[in-house]
Amino acid sequence: MTAEYKVHGDIAVITLNNPPVNGLGFATRLGITDGLAKANADVAVKAVVITGAGKAFSGGADIKEFGSPKALQEPNLLSVILAVENSSKPVVAAVHTVCMGGGLELALGCHYRIAEPGCSVALPEVKLGLIPGAGGTQRLPRVLGVEPALNMIFSGEPIKSEMLAMLPGQKLFDKMAASAESLAEEALAYARSVADARPMPLVRNLPCKHPLGDAYFQFARNMVKGMSKNFPAPAKCVDAVEAATKQKFDVGMATERDIFASLMFTAESKALRHIFMAERAASKIPDVPADTPQRAINSVAVIGAGTMGGGISMNFLNVGIPVKMLEMKQDALDRGIATIRKNYESQVKKGKLKQDKYEQRMSLLSTTLSYDDLKDADMVIEAVFEELGVKEAVFKELDRVMKPGAILASNTSTLDVNKIASFTKRPEDVVGLHFFSPANVMKLLEVVRGAKTAKDVMATVMAVAKKIKKTAVVSGVCDGFIGNRMVEQYGRQGGFLLDEGCTPAQVDKAIEKFGFAMGPFRMGDLAGNDIGWAIRKRRVVEKPDMKYSKTADLLCEKGRFGQKTGAGWYDYVAGKRDAIPNEDVVKMIEEHRKSLGITPRKISDEEIVQRLVYSLVNEAARILEEGIASKASDIDMVYLMGYGFPIYRGGPMNYADQVGLFNVVQAMNRFAQNPLDDAKFWQPAPLLAKLAAEGKTFN
Ligand code: NAI
Repeated sequence: MTAEYKVHGDIAVITLNNPPVNGLGFATRLGITDGLAKANADVAVKAVVITGAGKAFSGGADIKEFGSPKALQEPNLLSVILAVENSSKPVVAAVHTVCMGGGLELALGCHYRIAEPGCSVALPEVKLGLIPGAGGTQRLPRVLGVEPALNMIFSGEPIKSEMLAMLPGQKLFDKMAASAESLAEEALAYARSVADARPMPLVRNLPCKHPLGDAYFQFARNMVKGMSKNFPAPAKCVDAVEAATKQKFDVGMATERDIFASLMFTAESKALRHIFMAERAASKIPDVPADTPQRAINSVAVIGAGTMGGGISMNFLNVGIPVKMLEMKQDALDRGIATIRKNYESQVKKGKLKQDKYEQRMSLLSTTLSYDDLKDADMVIEAVFEELGVKEAVFKELDRVMKPGAILASNTSTLDVNKIASFTKRPEDVVGLHFFSPANVMKLLEVVRGAKTAKDVMATVMAVAKKIKKTAVVSGVCDGFIGNRMVEQYGRQGGFLLDEGCTPAQVDKAIEKFGFAMGPFRMGDLAGNDIGWAIRKRRVVEKPDMKYSKTADLLCEKGRFGQKTGAGWYDYVAGKRDAIPNEDVVKMIEEHRKSLGITPRKISDEEIVQRLVYSLVNEAARILEEGIASKASDIDMVYLMGYGFPIYRGGPMNYADQVGLFNVVQAMNRFAQNPLDDAKFWQPAPLLAKLAAEGKTFN
C-alpha cells in the first residue's frame, strides 16, 4: 500500500507515500479509503488528516497508470473523494510543496484544508489537452471565485498557496501554517479544533456565481479562443466552469465528466499526452541505467566564439556554470563577447533579466587564446568551422591539454563523431552535442553517441542538458543525425513540388496551415540556402544517381542565400522577417520546369502536406530500424523541439500513427508512381512496411 495510516492520540493521519510526487495510483487510492474506514471505525479517533510524504502533498494522477484501465479501477479518484466527503469524522487536508491536479481535487473534497506557504497549487490538466476530471472545475470556483478559478484551470499554471490565501473571500485554505516545518503539528492541532464541528462543511454546498453571468463567460470564451487556437481544451474549461455556475452540483459534475471523456479522445490531447511521456522517455537511455555514476561538471570551456559558441556559452552562464572561451585571435573573442553582451542587454531592456543577474553572468565568462588555460575545465565543447581538418587540429590540442576525465564534446552538425573521437587517445570521453541555432534559445539538443562514448559520459551529458534546460535526445552517428537527415528528404520533396507546378509560397502556405511554424522555403531562407547547396554538392559526388530538383542550386547561383543576403526564395526588407514573394524566382522555376519538359499541374494542399510529412516519416523509420534513434518518440521530440512540427500533432511518428500506418504506406505507394518523384525513396522502409502490415504503430 502506498499510503500509511497512523493514529496520533485522537487524530488519524493518512500519509500518501508514492514517490516521487505521491501520484494517486490504484494502491494509493486504496490506501486512502482503507485509512478512512479504519478511522471511522475507531472510537478513539475524532478526526482525520490527509497529507503526503516527501516532496509533495500529491502531484495528481499517477503517470504510470496513464491511459491504462488501472486509472479507472475502483476506488477511482471520484469514489475516493466521495468517501472523504461522506466520512463521519472531519477530514483535514494538510497540503505542502506540490498540490496539483487530482491532488488538489482530493484536497477540495476534504472538509478543511491547511496549507504551508510556498506550496505550488495547480490544475494542469489543460496542458495535456484535458480538463480536470474529478470535480476540479466544479469545486475550485466555489472556493476561489469563478474568475480566479477559471484563470487557473484554463492556464494550468501553478500559483503559490500564500497568493491564493490572499484572495478576498477565498475558502480554499481554512488556515495557513506558519511554516513548512510546523505544518504537521499545526494540522494535528487544527484537526482537534474542528473534531466536534457538525455539520461538516462541504465545498459542493457552497454557492457559485459570477456577478456578470453570461457576459463574463462570453468575454472568457473570446479571450480563450484567441489564445489557444488548435487546442480544444481551454474553451472546454470555460464550458465546465460555466456549468458550475448554472447547474446543480451533481449535474455540473456529470457535465465535467462528459467533457473530460470527450477530450480524452481528441487528437490534440493524445498528442499532448504523447509529448508528456516522450519528454520523460527521451532522458532515459536503454543501456545506461539511471544509477550510472556521473562526472562532476562545474566548469566548461568553449572553442570558437562564433554564432554557436556564443549561444552555447550563454546556456551555461545562465545556470551559474563558469565558461572559458577560446579563439585563435583576440578580435574574434572580442566579437563573441560583444554578441553575448548584446543578447543579455536586450533581455535586460525587455525586463526579462535583472541588471545584477546580467553582471553576475558576465562575470562567469572568461577568454583565452591558449589551450593550456583550459586544462582544468570539466567539459569542453568545440564549435569551430565545420571542416574535419580544423576539428582534427582542435581535438589533438584538447587531447594534449585537458585533464583526465574531462568530457570532450563537438557541436558538429554533419561530421562523423567517431572520426573526431579517433583524433584523441580517449575516444570514450568524446561525444557530440548538437545544439540548434540560436543555441541560447532552441530547446533541442541532439546528443550524438559515438561507438566508443562511455556510459558515464552519456549519463553526465544528459544530466547537464537538463540543468541547462534543454530537451536532449540521443542520436547514433550518421550523416545529419536524426533531425537534419530527415529534413534533407523533406527539402528534396519541396524541390520536386516546385518542378511539378508549385510556387514556394504555395508549398509553405500548405504546410504552415497544417501547423508547421515555417514552410521549407521560408526555413531555407532563415537557415541560409547556401548550407543546403554545400550539402548537395557533396551528395552529387557521393550518390551521383540521387534524384533532386536543381531549382535550389539555380537560386544559389544567383546569390540568393536567404535572409542574410536580403533575398532567397523570397525578398526581405532590412530589419524585417516578412517573406515577400519574388516574381523573378517564380519565373526562374517556370523556366527550369520548361527546360525539363514538364507541364505544370495543380497540386492540392493535401498532397503537398502528405509528401512533405511522409518523407519525414519514411526516413525516420529507417533511422529507427538502424538504431540511430532508440525510440520513435525520440524522433517526435527532435521534430517538435527543433523543427517547428505542430505540437498539437505530437510529432511526425505520432501523427503517422494517428493517420494509420496502413494509410501512410498506401500514400507512399501512390507517390512512387509519380515519374517526377523519387520512386526508390518512396519504397516504405522495411520497419514501416512491417508495422503497417501488422496493423501496429510506431509508438
Ligand atoms: P562560425 O563561423 O559562426 O563560428 C566559428 C568560430 O570558430 C569562428 O569564430 C572562428 O574564428 C572560430 N575558429 C575557427 N577555427 C578555430 C580554431 N582552430 N580554434 C579556435 N577557434 C576557431 O560557425 P558556427 O555557425 O558557430 O558553427 C560552428 C560549429 O557549429 C560548426 O561545426 C557547425 O557545423 C556547428 N553548428 C552550426 C549551426 C548553425 O546553425 N550555425 C547549428 C548547429 C551546429
